Amino acid sequence: MGRAAQVKCHGDQSRFRVVADFIYDRFGNSIKYIADIAGGQGMLSRLLNKKYNYESEVIDPRHYVLLGLEHREELYTPDMASYYDLIVGLHPDEATRPVVESALIRPVVVVPCCNFWDKSRKLNTPAIADEIEKYYKEHGVSYERLTLDMGYPNICLVSEPPR
Ligand SMILES: C[S@@+](CC[C@H](N)C(=O)[O-])C[C@H]1O[C@@H](n2cnc3c(N)ncnc32)[C@H](O)[C@@H]1O
Repeated sequence: MGRAAQVKCHGDQSRFRVVADFIYDRFGNSIKYIADIAGGQGMLSRLLNKKYNYESEVIDPRHYVLLGLEHREELYTPDMASYYDLIVGLHPDEATRPVVESALIRPVVVVPCCNFWDKSRKLNTPAIADEIEKYYKEHGVSYERLTLDMGYPNICLVSEPPR
């Protein structure tokens, strides 16, 4: 996905900075290894690594990522989660469900976007977030729902796995 397409389809460019800042404010130095699921060209990972010294890698089947980033060029599945300290899905499209399912085993930050949660129904972003909340409640995942200071879609669910 080119830069223009990312901006056009999926919100404003400030989302990478806002989410990177949020992750650092929230987790600080308590984490090191981050999986940037559906990270596209890797704008978020680049900020996490350069600004905050994390080791964030992109997991996305798309071939192109920014130079200098670790990249697993494959579809993400929740069985990959345990290698990382934090799973992040910023506008993760088809990876929304595997990102959310990872909340059973690792902390997750997810900022949903389009409806890749349930194709049988029309769901806007708040309704997708409602469904994710429902999933978390059913599975004993503790979470917070926040609105990030960036353009819509900007609902963020940050969670901790069940004890
Ligand atoms: C909206 S785009 C990129 C989003 C990027 N995080 C951003 O905010 O610009 C969604 C990405 O999801 C990737 N994707 C789709 N299914 C995936 C999966 N199961 N695992 C990892 N990436 C996936 C696509 O290749 C695409 O790059």
